[in-house]
Amino acid sequence: MEYQLCPSILSADFNRLGEQIKIMEREGVKWLHIDVMDGDFVPSISFGMPVIRSIRKESDMFFDVHLMVSAPERYIQDFVDCGADSITVHAEACEDLERAIELIHDAGVKAGVSIKPATPVNDISHLLEDVDMVLVMTVQPGFGGQKYIEDCTEKIRELRELIEEDDLDVDIQVDGGINEDTLETVIRAGANLLVAGSYVFKGDLASNVRKINEKMRRIAETVQ
Ligand code: DX5
Ligand code: ZN
Repeated sequence: MEYQLCPSILSADFNRLGEQIKIMEREGVKWLHIDVMDGDFVPSISFGMPVIRSIRKESDMFFDVHLMVSAPERYIQDFVDCGADSITVHAEACEDLERAIELIHDAGVKAGVSIKPATPVNDISHLLEDVDMVLVMTVQPGFGGQKYIEDCTEKIRELRELIEEDDLDVDIQVDGGINEDTLETVIRAGANLLVAGSYVFKGDLASNVRKINEKMRRIAETVQ
């Protein structure tokens, strides 16, 4: 299984975004988590296509776009055009989730489906053969810096079991409240793509990335 730290640029210093992306690339970060919020599906508004298009010019990282947007089907092609390598939509935001996943794949990128903390795994388990990744939100989507919701650990476990039972090639991503303490919990439960905002950007970026990557690899070795 491939383990990756996916820094969420929502916590970046936007005045130095390009520079911070370069630092992460130098430290070997492969995935960049890009949180798009519309002020409707979630209360806050973040950024959209122009920002992604502009960082795409300077970066070869895998752009993992998390759409916290109502009816995201409307924007799939736009996000592919501005540089997304993967698009994740929320199960709660799509009228026809199967169709949304199909549209993402037809546009030529990887497809993820995300569930909020209160949404059961059962709501999306029938789609596991159709997606590349399931994103388990471990806080309420909308803001960085929140506390990990413990009840979500069981959902990660349940998903990992379902994926292994059917021998599927599906990544489990977690997002929200990942830090020094919760990192181990989520890896042990079965997550392999770890989104982190404040944990990565608070303090010295380069040394945080190095420290987190090292810790992630150490724990991952003991669960494989
Ligand atoms: C929350 C976003 C997250 C957020 C994570 O809605 O999807 O990606 O940036 O931030 P931390 O790691 O600080 O909880
Ligand atoms: Zn996110």
